[in-house]
Amino acid sequence: MTNSFAAKYGPWALVTGASRGLGAEFARQCAERGLNIIQIATNADLLKAQADAIIRDYGVEVRTIALDLSREDILPEITPVTDSLEVGLLVNNAGISRVRPFLEHSLDQLVKQLHVNTRAGLVLAYHFGRKMAERRRGGIIFLSSGSAMCGTAYCANYAGTKAYNLVIAESLWYELRRYGVDVLGFMAGSTKTPGWDANEPKPYRFVKVMDVKPVVAEALEALGKKPSLIAGRSNRLGYFLMGRTVSRARAIRIVSKSIEKMFGPFDDTV
Ligand SMILES: NC(=O)c1ccc[n+]([C@@H]2O[C@H](COP(=O)([O-])OP(=O)(O)OC[C@H]3O[C@@H](n4cnc5c(N)ncnc54)[C@H](OP(=O)(O)O)[C@@H]3O)[C@@H](O)[C@H]2O)c1
Repeated sequence: MTNSFAAKYGPWALVTGASRGLGAEFARQCAERGLNIIQIATNADLLKAQADAIIRDYGVEVRTIALDLSREDILPEITPVTDSLEVGLLVNNAGISRVRPFLEHSLDQLVKQLHVNTRAGLVLAYHFGRKMAERRRGGIIFLSSGSAMCGTAYCANYAGTKAYNLVIAESLWYELRRYGVDVLGFMAGSTKTPGWDANEPKPYRFVKVMDVKPVVAEALEALGKKPSLIAGRSNRLGYFLMGRTVSRARAIRIVSKSIEKMFGPFDDTV
């Protein structure tokens, strides 16, 4: 398992948003499978601690790029580190998620979210996808979300970015197969991470919060086997039933009400 994963997706994995949460776990599980790691996020201290732990625990090499992925010029900051390395796996994980009414965000925050959640992944997939296609092997994972499945109030822009990630991943799953490049759109469900906690969710009986380890393991196992995957069996069942039994409007109401229960109440001041 470990060797075939490294042979297909090694020798280097680039993981964005690797300083904590799902990205940190992607970096660790890729290292466990024998890949060297390039990790990107803005928090240099967290990245340093994460690099030390990966080197200690798995004995692989780690390169770190402390970079704000909302910037226009991300490639000139990344390629000096990556040009001499063979990146066989790209995990477009970095994301900004803030649950609050649309009009309470500043426009700058929303545009930054759009750039980190979608533009950065597009730029990296184009750059590294081309090199993978030339080598006739590689893998790309786009982090999507259950909120990509239908409109989700109080996460409108976020849900839009995650729908983009799902659709570009599924499209490239078909298109890049001919070059031996596997692509996966991974709809992480509610998962216990610093980003999840920062939104201060309240327990809600219909939402089971998952741990990062099994969620990331599911994604790495699904890569190369399917175009997209919803994390967690109960989430898969829930979205399957919702997609077939209720109207689009009802689905939007159901998920938006669950956001209100977990993250509300929201007031209506503008
Ligand atoms: N947790 C969930 O329930 C859940 C559910 C569905 C989908 N997802 C998706 O899974 C991914 C990871 O989520 P998470 O819960 O692990 O989030 P998290 O705990 O907030 O971690 C987000 C990561 O993204 C990095 N990041 C944020 N802004 C950045 C920027 N401007 N430039 C570079 N890096 C940046 C953060 O690092 P720095 O702060 O150091 O920059 C951090 O490493 C996201 O794409 C999210 O949408 C999560």
